[in-house]
Amino acid sequence: MKVINSIKDMRAWSKAQRRQDKIIGFVPTMGFLHEGHLSLIRKAKEHSDLTVISIFVNPAQFAPGEDLDQYPRDFERDEKLCAQEDVNVIFYPSNDNMYLDKHKTYVITEELSKKLCGKSRSTHFRGVTTIVAKLFNIVNPHIAVFGQKDAQQAVIIQRMVTDLNFDIQIIISPIIREADGLAMSSRNKYLNENERKQAAVLYRSLQSAKTEFEKDNRSLLEIKDKITAVIKNEPASRIDYVEIVDAQTLGSPDPGEGDMLIALAVFFGKTRLIDNIIVPGKGEEWSTGVLE
Ligand code: PAJ
Repeated sequence: MKVINSIKDMRAWSKAQRRQDKIIGFVPTMGFLHEGHLSLIRKAKEHSDLTVISIFVNPAQFAPGEDLDQYPRDFERDEKLCAQEDVNVIFYPSNDNMYLDKHKTYVITEELSKKLCGKSRSTHFRGVTTIVAKLFNIVNPHIAVFGQKDAQQAVIIQRMVTDLNFDIQIIISPIIREADGLAMSSRNKYLNENERKQAAVLYRSLQSAKTEFEKDNRSLLEIKDKITAVIKNEPASRIDYVEIVDAQTLGSPDPGEGDMLIALAVFFGKTRLIDNIIVPGKGEEWSTGVLE
């Protein structure tokens, strides 16, 4: 396994592999790896000859006052995990390498980046799309794998790839969870014992919503209220949003048409966690009510 720090060396490596017709699979991350990230690496390996993972805590996707400085970092541990997974290259650039002082160009996926998490994190997705576009240009992979854990990010990246004609196949991989259902996240490390216990409510609330759908409850408003009530039972929780949207457009669900995404963001103490599930569309009438 190679660790590459410079953009020039990363490009040279990919160029050499492409010359030998190797399929390059790519997993962008911010490090502090957990089983969720490792599942993406395994997925990438299924679809490629060589796997590159990037580890870069991207300042552009954190707003002032967010957790950029506290974001957990442990490169040595990450390196060991990648070696165990037979990763071929870790691209581990420095901040100065990735953003020049005079950096002026951003990629913005309009509308999609303003919904859900974009309402409270207005510059977040601009930071994500910009860094992912840069990484795609540097690593030059054939395929790239992202997690369903960040459902909005997955939709936005797919839109960007289509709109900007990146010749890269995007694969979205399922959410990996802890035994009690909490979606794995590098940020779970911030939770104290009490918050950690209570955070399991997120998955429980999503499961209860799914049960409502299965029981043929067709009132999205009622289902949303139910999720909210279940979460509010936990005293450390503070809801940022609970929304039921069309899984592709992230807008109001088209009654009965495509899949629906139930997405939420909830604070436990100071830690903001996100989770989601997809409910397959059934081609039936839904009562959407007022969802805002
Ligand atoms: P990060 O939070 O490190 O996540 C990297 C990738 O791992 C993302 O595609 C994310 O959706 C996926 N992932 C995280 N937790 C997961 C889980 N429990 N199950 C499955 N996949 C999971 O997302 C980012 O970094 C950044 O925004 C990035 C795309 C790297 C751009 O900076």
